[in-house]
Amino acid sequence: MIYKVIHTLTKSGITEISIVLGGESVGDFIRLLGDGKEFGASFSYVYQQGAGGIAEALNLTRCIVAGEKVAVILGDNIFEDTFAEEVKQFDNSNDSSCMLFLKEVSDPERFGVAELDGEGTILNIEEKPKIPKSNLCVTGLYFYDKNIFDVIDRVIKEIGYSSRGELEITDVNNYYIKTSKTKSVIVNGFWSDAGTFRTLLKCSNFIKKQHNNQIK
Ligand code: G1P
Repeated sequence: MIYKVIHTLTKSGITEISIVLGGESVGDFIRLLGDGKEFGASFSYVYQQGAGGIAEALNLTRCIVAGEKVAVILGDNIFEDTFAEEVKQFDNSNDSSCMLFLKEVSDPERFGVAELDGEGTILNIEEKPKIPKSNLCVTGLYFYDKNIFDVIDRVIKEIGYSSRGELEITDVNNYYIKTSKTKSVIVNGFWSDAGTFRTLLKCSNFIKKQHNNQIK
């Protein structure tokens, strides 16, 4: 899973990668992945104690990332597409604030769900809504401008941790949506998280099919 996620970044032109790890298997990951040379990349590692959320994990990379634009990808998100064009566009843009990647799903209540206006602008994101306003899920790939850590500070101060004990990336995204221009991109190819047994199998079958096609 982690190899595929790293591949999504490197194929998109992102090679300076900070990997946030937690739990018992930190040493195994570092031994497996090393310094990144094997991947044509450079890796650094950050430790997250406990499950404090995606925004908390990102905040822990502050000393490495601060002052730069940053792409964030979740370690269990499997994308068929790569995003070199979007990286270039975001990197070259002066007014870029945040870019979010949306995918139509049949079970939006499991995700952050985007509400769009008629022109495709995101109005709001709801985290795991009981009654979703659309079937467009916010996938686990996010691009942020240099202000990201100020925004996280604001979210910590004004909203804090959610009822599930996490600093929610959805609160960060909603902050950007309210205060600046947020771009959205529809993901065309396969996408799934692998957070349930069913979706883990779905991702495994997708990778198997992709691999079979490559060696044919
Ligand atoms: C997280 C985010 C959610 C997003 C999802 C994508 O959910 O909170 O907004 O749609 O990743 O995989 P979690 O994995 O924490 O349930």
